Amino acid sequence: MVMSSESHILLGQTLSYAADPFAVPLEDAIRFERRGAVVLCDGKILEVGPADTVTRPGGARTTDYGDGLIMAGFIDAHLHYPQTGIIASWGKRLIDWLNSYTFPEEARLIDSDYAKEVAKRYFDLALANGTTTSLSYATIHPTSVDAYFEEAQSRGLRALAGKTCMDRNAPENLRDTAKSAYDDSKALLEKWHGVDRLSYVITPRFSPTSTPEQLSALGALWGEHPECLMQTHISEQHEEIAWVKELFPKARDYLDTYEAHGLLREGAVFGHAIHLTEREEARIKDVGAGLVHCPTSNTFIGSGIFETARMKADGQKVGLATDTGGGSSFSMLRTMAAAYELSQLKGHALHPAQLLWLATCGSAQVLHLEDRIGNLRAGMEADLVVLDLGSTPAISQRSQRARDIWEAIFPTIMMGDDRATKAVWTAGKPVS
Ligand code: GUN
Ligand code: ZN
Repeated sequence: MVMSSESHILLGQTLSYAADPFAVPLEDAIRFERRGAVVLCDGKILEVGPADTVTRPGGARTTDYGDGLIMAGFIDAHLHYPQTGIIASWGKRLIDWLNSYTFPEEARLIDSDYAKEVAKRYFDLALANGTTTSLSYATIHPTSVDAYFEEAQSRGLRALAGKTCMDRNAPENLRDTAKSAYDDSKALLEKWHGVDRLSYVITPRFSPTSTPEQLSALGALWGEHPECLMQTHISEQHEEIAWVKELFPKARDYLDTYEAHGLLREGAVFGHAIHLTEREEARIKDVGAGLVHCPTSNTFIGSGIFETARMKADGQKVGLATDTGGGSSFSMLRTMAAAYELSQLKGHALHPAQLLWLATCGSAQVLHLEDRIGNLRAGMEADLVVLDLGSTPAISQRSQRARDIWEAIFPTIMMGDDRATKAVWTAGKPVS
């Protein structure tokens, strides 16, 4: 990748995290500057601080965003880029939704030109919404992984994805086998993992669409490549859990269908995880695997309420995601709003600082990238979003009467969309 050797100074309001706001009092977790500066050099953050005290490298170009809020770019920790074209499809619950909308669309990505077109459209939408890193499921077709990584690579993005593996309970044109899933995943891993800013993620879709043989083959591959993450779905809907029980009569629970096949350890990324048993929660926490909350999907498909506050208080690692196209938005702001609303139903008002943390540091933790992305700190990669906190008349009339920064930010979280994205920087360069 070609890195800029230029330096840039970005001026505006700056928000970063010194610690997890779910774990320590707000004043200890937050670093906020009303007139702050972020200094970028060679794709990295050189310094973050008050505008009048940072060191300004000679020759650095300055961009002043005024009242714009400069923070780490959003990290979408679970999505399906191939479902971009069927987002907001009406009227189904999970299994019917997969059969009616998702599988027919995913089958179209056998055409690699179509896959390239969808990947391009996906990254355009993600960046327009301030999302600078995505962890996506591709389809069963290896070329759909290539299309995604080639598009991310050409834009210099940090991105993660894997070939979705399915060898049963899917249409014939969307089924692989235990052996081809292993072989194709291995070849893609060797081709893409660690290239530029890209990471390959081993990806069985979920237990209902994989035989025990396929799960074992992917568990073996993960054993050979412990440096990779593994992503899958777990306990999203009650009908799905009952189906897993039928398909795996000997398993103790849903998690056991992964655990028994070498698919549970730190580095596992479980999407949804709404209806876990006590044993499953304890085991996931024990091994340090990550959970990804997908709130717009959970309401859209009618799945249930992920208890964010309780999971965090219990010490689980939690990230946030759109789950495009089960989720009904590409916007991580809309996703934070949905997380807030669902948490309210459980009696916990998540603080704006906690919502923004989930969409940046929380997702980075789940992806094992917290030392590189998700925060503004010297040495980290320069992936940033600048938010306009008055992007629409409705938001602006509310934020104008804010008494503090949180009252100024919260209307954008609740009502904002891509119009709130004032600028995006990736690897130290502005995205145009
Ligand atoms: N479970 C298995 N596949 C999917 C998918 O594509 N979307 C959602 N929301 N859940 C799933
Ligand atoms: Zn999903």
